[in-house]
Amino acid sequence: MESTRKKLITLLANAKDSFVSGQRLSEELHISRAAIWKHMKALEQEGYQIEGVSRKGYRIVSFPDKMSINTIQWDLHTKWLGQEMYYKNQVDSTQTIAHQLAREGADHGTVVVADEQLKGRGRLHRPWDSQKGKGIWMSLILRPDIEPQRAPQLTLASAVSITRMLEKVCQAEAKIKWPNDIFLNDRKLAGILTEMQAEQDLIEYVIIGMGINVNQVQEDIPLSLQDIATSVKIETGSSFQREALIQDVLKEIETVYDQFMEEGFSAVKPYWEKAAYRIGETVTVKTRNLKWDAVLVGIQEDGALIVEDQSGKREILYSAEIDW
Ligand code: BTN
Repeated sequence: MESTRKKLITLLANAKDSFVSGQRLSEELHISRAAIWKHMKALEQEGYQIEGVSRKGYRIVSFPDKMSINTIQWDLHTKWLGQEMYYKNQVDSTQTIAHQLAREGADHGTVVVADEQLKGRGRLHRPWDSQKGKGIWMSLILRPDIEPQRAPQLTLASAVSITRMLEKVCQAEAKIKWPNDIFLNDRKLAGILTEMQAEQDLIEYVIIGMGINVNQVQEDIPLSLQDIATSVKIETGSSFQREALIQDVLKEIETVYDQFMEEGFSAVKPYWEKAAYRIGETVTVKTRNLKWDAVLVGIQEDGALIVEDQSGKREILYSAEIDW
């Protein structure tokens, strides 16, 4: 986003209901009063309701319902994640756009957000329902200097960040189902799709795609998912401004990622364990060719799943599906 516009929104938003004088805006932004007026008109076009009173200045009366780069970035307090951002009203999949941008050289930390996806995709080529205006459909481009086999740890780190955000912003205690699902009250609320472009021992880029169901009501959930999927609204009874969740989750991911890069996965593991779902319970484990019942023991130092069958034999899994 153009930085003057972002600074202008921040100045007005920080003043809450108070007016900010044209003089102050002009001094802080180093632009003329006429230029400020033009920015105000542009903001109104974007759906901001601005009140301008002579000798008092300007204030934001209401923010647009419609998400935009402005509404996401004005209260985004990250150092590098999402500072470069693309916002689209409708896409096939933010993953596809993120791959394309990454191939073209997009920076580490670039974020793609869409209001609606027509071909949202999940793990194992499953479709991901991504209705307009209801959830967070977002892909992050990361360029971590780690071995490719460690990339799945980023899925676990992102899952931790999503649960932290849900606790802070929505007061919802969500759980992580290994490797990529976020559950709330026994139904799936969010999913993570990690895709990577790498050579044998060098990551070119990783795309972390996340879908978080926010404001769907029960009727919005597709029939086939009625018993297994949910949204923040269904579980808490409250609607949330999606921007607030995006701002917070990006901040959480940046913090967890920086810690992961400095100290390794051992710094993230305890947080994952705190939020882990169904540990100690018997589940059905499905791998490419096998299916068996086992107890979920936990994760290893490298993030791999440890399960134990009825005879006490332990297995370490790097890829599997867990069901019950
Ligand atoms: C899963 O649970 O299987 C993962 C779902 C990931 C969905 C997100 S929504 C944003 C990004 N774009 C996609 O097409 N998929 C991911």
